[in-house]
Amino acid sequence: MKNAEIIVTNADLEQLMDTSNEWIIERTGIEQRRWFTPGKDTVANMSKKATDMALKDAGIAVDEIDFIVFATITPDYFFPGSGVLLQRELGLQGIGALDIRNACSGFIYGLSVAEQYIKSGMYQTILVIGAEIQSSALDKSDEGRSSSVIFADGAGAAILRATDKQKGILSTHLHADGDYAEELYVKDPGSSRKVRLSKELLEGKTFNLTMNGNTVFKHAVSRFAEVINEALAKNNRSVEDIDLLVPHQANLRISNFVQKHFKLPDDKVYNNIMHYGNTTAASIPIALSEANQKGLLKEGMTVCLAAFGSGFTWASALIDW
Ligand SMILES: CC(C)(COP(=O)(O)OP(=O)(O)OC[C@H]1O[C@@H](n2cnc3c(N)ncnc32)[C@H](O)[C@@H]1OP(=O)(O)O)[C@@H](O)C(=O)NCCC(=O)NCCS
Repeated sequence: MKNAEIIVTNADLEQLMDTSNEWIIERTGIEQRRWFTPGKDTVANMSKKATDMALKDAGIAVDEIDFIVFATITPDYFFPGSGVLLQRELGLQGIGALDIRNACSGFIYGLSVAEQYIKSGMYQTILVIGAEIQSSALDKSDEGRSSSVIFADGAGAAILRATDKQKGILSTHLHADGDYAEELYVKDPGSSRKVRLSKELLEGKTFNLTMNGNTVFKHAVSRFAEVINEALAKNNRSVEDIDLLVPHQANLRISNFVQKHFKLPDDKVYNNIMHYGNTTAASIPIALSEANQKGLLKEGMTVCLAAFGSGFTWASALIDW
């Protein structure tokens, strides 16, 4: 995990827009979040720091990585993607680097790709990244307040390795429904217009993140439950077998709803949105990293990851840790 450095509290947001600490905590659970420092932090260098932490934790040398899967919807450049920029920062020129653009489900989509490459024998050691700088796309005026209090910046990394042991990722489950593409999106810079940038476009709000919060909320709670059940059914496991659920940190109310639905006790659901906000593709690897640092992830545990977000996309992974 490596978060952007600037801590932005709800009190700080009160200075920028018509909102309150009470409203934000009640509706989202978020107390503070991190925003990047322009000119210093980039998606690539934040993910490099997260990779260094993951390598150290795993006791792996950087040149053992033979492929990079990079989940982000906020790349440093329009193109090329962030995978090659991280590859360059790591000094791994020559290995493959794949970008994944599945928003909040991006990290699990990335895990799924890595899982298949490793199981097929194509690669041995894959770096999977989730990293975002969302704060520069947020409308921090009153008009954008319902989403700008939620989204934030951060980066997380995981290293997947082939092993002979009977453990690791049991299955991954990926879904999408493009009917809802415009319910949570950033429209521009879109390519299907005469010019990508114009004075008129800049005066609009189409470069900002736009979200229909109510629709997102309703779909999220049912899709989270559905995709967790799917992972359990696939592996003949029951809810009681889950030792730790690490949901994408969309909104604390959504996590609490899912926890209640499955009747999971507090110590079986990991939440840290209170400190970091919703960091899109970065939220699950940041949560996993933090849970690991706290000693909450022990060998033999069954860990369930689940996510929902823009697309809509939703996904889960069941892991024997
Ligand atoms: C965004 C969300 C918190 C808004 O909460 P809500 O209870 O649905 O609130 P509404 O949008 O209905 O707005 C209720 C009121 O609060 C106001 N409001 C919105 N944002 C506000 C803010 N930051 N501060 C203060 N008031 C705010 C609205 O303007 C509205 O006022 P009105 O009743 O005078 O019109 C909620 O819809 C949500 O959590 N959605 C899911 C978002 C999510 O998880 N996204 C990530 C997916 S990966």
